[in-house]
Amino acid sequence: PLNDLAKADGKGYFGVAVDSNELANATYKALLDNTHVFGQMTPGNKMKWDSTEPSRGTFSYTAADAQVVWAKGNGYQIRGHTLVWHSQLPSWVTSGAFDNATLVSIVQNHVTNLVTHFKGNVTTWDVVNEIFNEDGTFRTSVFYTTIGEWYVDIAFRAAAAADPNVGLAANDYNIDYGGAKATAYVTLVNTLKSRGVKITQVGSQSHLIVGSVPSQSSLAATFAKIIATGVDLTITELDIRMTLPVTDALLAQQKKDYNAVIGACVQTTGCVGMTIWGATDFYSWIPSVFSGQGAALPWDEQLKPKPAFYGIADAL
Ligand code: XIL
Repeated sequence: PLNDLAKADGKGYFGVAVDSNELANATYKALLDNTHVFGQMTPGNKMKWDSTEPSRGTFSYTAADAQVVWAKGNGYQIRGHTLVWHSQLPSWVTSGAFDNATLVSIVQNHVTNLVTHFKGNVTTWDVVNEIFNEDGTFRTSVFYTTIGEWYVDIAFRAAAAADPNVGLAANDYNIDYGGAKATAYVTLVNTLKSRGVKITQVGSQSHLIVGSVPSQSSLAATFAKIIATGVDLTITELDIRMTLPVTDALLAQQKKDYNAVIGACVQTTGCVGMTIWGATDFYSWIPSVFSGQGAALPWDEQLKPKPAFYGIADAL
């Protein structure tokens, strides 16, 4: 009962990312419906810009709403994912056709519309996603190129104005290693706060690699450094991939790696929850993006708990 165990540790939830098509799989849905195992849901795709504003000013929420109704039915917290990201954008946004002032108003309108629509249902929004390069500089995107780093302030301000009660997060991968990218988030939180911009959380995606996961103490130290800026931290998209084929040795290492990440959150005050990016290897995004890699999740393709599952349970 991973969610029950997480709550007993004083955490908010143990959660899972779900895409609406997966709910059609009755066997998988039965696992996702188990409120002892999960207490939180992040939509894998259906709140992204290409799903929600496919053409300018036309908002479409049917798919996301269906997932929200399902998650609410189970009493799950819902994470909004994601308002401003360089990926999964419709071509009308990436076209580069807009000047600074126009793109600012497009961002404000998109953020305001989504946050207003999901007000009362979403607990925390990933306001911005993956805004930094590995060296801590701002990632090139249509938003950065047209508006500069101020697009981040603009997005956070619009979200806070639309719902003063919702949590507001910046979310990224490779924060775990504690290097320049983690430092960039410390600087970001301090900078936003100094400008009077509200940010409540940093999300660590934690898309990790079997055998290359930092130690629990190193992870905990990195998380604590971010939390010390006055925000919560949460693990938002955890998966730990391996080079296929699966071997017993890799599964054993993966168990240790999951144990270290979950253990780091458990031991760190201010690490408020953890979410895996899907439960079963059958629906994982990894094989389609990282060629030759996979088996990144705690349940195998037949929905049998892997050693990784017990690594999580042991840590909770
Ligand atoms: C992934 C989804 O899981 C896939 O279905 C989709 O094809 C691509 O995006 N970081 C994020 C997530 O913030 O939104 C991404 O989700 C995985 C990487």
